[in-house]
Amino acid sequence: QGRSGAAAAVLAWYDTHARDLPWRRPPDPTGQAPLPDPYRIWLSEIMLQQTTVAAVAAYFKAFTERWPTVEALAAADETEVTAAWAGLGYYSRARNLHACARMVANDYGGRFPESAAELKRLPGIGDYTSAAIAAIAFGEPAPVVDGNIERVVTRLFRIGEPLPGAKPIVRAKVAEMMPGERPGDFAQAMMDIGATICVPRRPACLLCPLRPDCEAETAGDQTAYPVKAAK
Ligand code: ADE
Repeated sequence: QGRSGAAAAVLAWYDTHARDLPWRRPPDPTGQAPLPDPYRIWLSEIMLQQTTVAAVAAYFKAFTERWPTVEALAAADETEVTAAWAGLGYYSRARNLHACARMVANDYGGRFPESAAELKRLPGIGDYTSAAIAAIAFGEPAPVVDGNIERVVTRLFRIGEPLPGAKPIVRAKVAEMMPGERPGDFAQAMMDIGATICVPRRPACLLCPLRPDCEAETAGDQTAYPVKAAK
């Protein structure tokens, strides 16, 4: 399909197959809809860092009902926030969440900075989360790479370098693929393809919009990727 053809196929797939998740709005084939609320995207991405989509949904609803804006969350006591986080695990995330809300409220006038580079300076926001927020909430074609996308891309290009050494190669490939239009939908489509089609053991390649481009599918060795470093 070629480079931009692959992105177009991924976006067309997303228009009909996107998972309906509480922090998402419907896909926008026209690319004209306003972007989603950065607060909700940030909150969901922090919650999803080490926790499954299924476990996060109820917490996301509870947090956004109790604290509908970043200012509301910043005004809460840290103990209230960590108590509401109970069950999600990795409590440093809750403390960073609260510190980040205070920083956005106090130092940034309640508005999240709009570029991946600036977002990365905030507490709890690293490479993945900064790129995800920039792409989804601000339309920046920042390279979003999570574990699912790593699997999709190492198969797509048959990247034989073991992880974690392959990470910069994967990131460069994703950067090349990211479309200028709808980068947030593209990133979330790649996550969904990784979670529902390009799964670790028995990938459903017949359903995959990247099938015409996938080097591993052509070679028939999909499950050999990603290569893990020998222990
Ligand atoms: N995992 C992390 N972020 C996600 C998102 N925006 N959609 C689906 N799964 C995710």
